[in-house]
Amino acid sequence: MSGEFTSIEDARERLAGVGYLADEPASLVSFLAGRLGKPVLVEGPAGVGKTELAKAVSRATGRHLIRLQCYEGLDEAKALYEWNYRKQLLRIQTEAADTGWQEVKDDIFGEEFMLARPLLTAITAEQPVVLLIDEIDKTDQEFEALLLEVLSDFQISIPEMGVVEARTRPLVLLTSNNSRELTEALKRRCLYLWLDYPTIERELEIVHLHAPELDQAVARKLVEVIHMVRSLYLKKPPSIAESIDWSRALLLLGAEDVDKAVLERTMSIIVKHRTDLDLVAERVGVKLGDGVLGRQAG
Ligand SMILES: Nc1ncnc2c1ncn2[C@@H]1O[C@H](COP(=O)(O)OP(=O)(O)O)[C@@H](O)[C@H]1O
Ligand SMILES: [Mg+2]
Repeated sequence: MSGEFTSIEDARERLAGVGYLADEPASLVSFLAGRLGKPVLVEGPAGVGKTELAKAVSRATGRHLIRLQCYEGLDEAKALYEWNYRKQLLRIQTEAADTGWQEVKDDIFGEEFMLARPLLTAITAEQPVVLLIDEIDKTDQEFEALLLEVLSDFQISIPEMGVVEARTRPLVLLTSNNSRELTEALKRRCLYLWLDYPTIERELEIVHLHAPELDQAVARKLVEVIHMVRSLYLKKPPSIAESIDWSRALLLLGAEDVDKAVLERTMSIIVKHRTDLDLVAERVGVKLGDGVLGRQAG
């Protein structure tokens, strides 16, 4: 089934159907976004499923996904549109010498000489799309202001051509890793979703989805260790992405338990800072060695 979500439950089920296990808040905003025609701002630590939510919404609704990856210095030319200078030049060069400037100008500032970037592509698409504006916190406030215009009016004004209005309403998801505070103006226009690290049970389901062959007891212990590691004050706590990588690695290595030795050999898959590695080896390794999380104890 594709098309709009018809209820929170429908959103939850269809997202699960395309491999995304959504909790109530995520199902709720996914449903409401379509109904209210409002963008969704998804915030949370890295690797908790923000980007994947947008991809899953696209798969579940059958809408094409258009992605704008944000970075420092992202500007209009890369987000909205830019003129294809090379093609314009070629056109001018092949023009007969007696053609008037006005005529040439009308020609080279037409659609044929324009390079549409994600925002323009999204609002001019024939069929409604999902627009993912990923990691918006990496841009500056100036870019946010530009975005506001597009997201509130669903139109883009191009000086040489006039106003381009949206043909269809995209379903917009913005993600942020929370590296800077976003403006109130942007937040006001969006539905808000905070995604956090999942519960042990939910993370176990996610791991199972991505590494179904991994033994259930090993998977459970792996997730429990991940949660223990997260409770330490690390520079970069492991995310769901790391849990998935770790489970796939343990599967390949044929690990039958997550004990001290296995942790020591493979912990660079889940923690990636020198000081974090030391801390994990010291705190978690010791506990595993003592059998606190051992199967016999659990
Ligand atoms: N609820 C979920 N259901 C299924 N897979 C998930 C879920 N949350 C996260 N994942 C998986 O975790 C990984 C990281 O997710 P991602 O969307 O890239 O994180 P973020 O964008 O928040 O940094 C992806 O492989 C994704 O498929
Ligand atoms: Mg992401």
